[in-house]
Amino acid sequence: MPAITATAPGKIILFGEHAVVYGRPAIAIPVTQVSARALLQADPRGQSGCMRVQASDVQLDAWLADIPQEDPLAAAIRGTLKYLGVDRLPACTLRITSTIPLAAGLGSGAAVSIAVIRAVSAFLGHPLSDEQVCTLAYAVEKIYHGTPSGIDNTVIAYAQPIYFVRGQPIERFVIRRPFTLVIGDTGLPSPTVVAVGDLRRAWQADPAAYERLFDEAGRIARAARQVMESDASPDLLGPLMDENQAVLSELGVSSPELERLTQAARAAGALGAKLSGGGRGGNMIALAAQETASQVASALFDAGAVRVIITQAGDG
Ligand code: PMV
Repeated sequence: MPAITATAPGKIILFGEHAVVYGRPAIAIPVTQVSARALLQADPRGQSGCMRVQASDVQLDAWLADIPQEDPLAAAIRGTLKYLGVDRLPACTLRITSTIPLAAGLGSGAAVSIAVIRAVSAFLGHPLSDEQVCTLAYAVEKIYHGTPSGIDNTVIAYAQPIYFVRGQPIERFVIRRPFTLVIGDTGLPSPTVVAVGDLRRAWQADPAAYERLFDEAGRIARAARQVMESDASPDLLGPLMDENQAVLSELGVSSPELERLTQAARAAGALGAKLSGGGRGGNMIALAAQETASQVASALFDAGAVRVIITQAGDG
């Protein structure tokens, strides 16, 4: 059995995070500068039926049979085996590595699941379609997020810009005029499940107020898609990002660190900036002209970012 390597990119949410859980549209794009990788190799000296799982980033080195059911990594493997109707594996070792920061809004959980699902299915001679991979990864996302919208596993499985509305067919779209984004990491891990849970409680306490904010986020996402699909200048996305950030602050998912980084980016010439993903900590994104991207990146480092990625949206 040949060794199989599968990779999956990171992602960022450009518009609409959180509101997407409540049925409003959101837009996400893959980020190929970071990725998760799964390497699956037969182990000729191993015992049939036994898979060794090694993920040094999370200090895991164990037999699959010994990993608890609720562990997301094991759930990705077991879900794939079940889907394929395989109950006995050849002896093998699965190694997982990732350059995607954990719990930072860059889709690390979904990317690891997708790399694993692809590696396991290809290793067993049944490579799965993007759609099948997406569905299996969604089941794992539920362990990470509680009530995931499905946007992370979708954008990563298809590795293309996605306009996502929960429960509706996936809409891939093409960005007509590429633009530059600077992604700044606060360095604060922020498990999405916490922000999503807090927001749910707030919404339950005052549904009308929160529904209004979700509507506002939905309007912004729709307007942003129009800009991206037309010949209009992508600079128009800047004010929309600022508006979305204001909504996210009102939803209670921003933080002083995210506010500091978004303000620093704007002061350094960014055309707009917002948090991206679950919020509270994790990453923010800023829209910058290509010539000012490095200036924005330095300003983010000066304001406390622990990592900065410059990426092109819509370059392929
Ligand atoms: O995985 P993150 O942190 O990028 O966030 C996911 C986006 C949320 O809208 C906050 C949650 C969801 O399930 O869509």
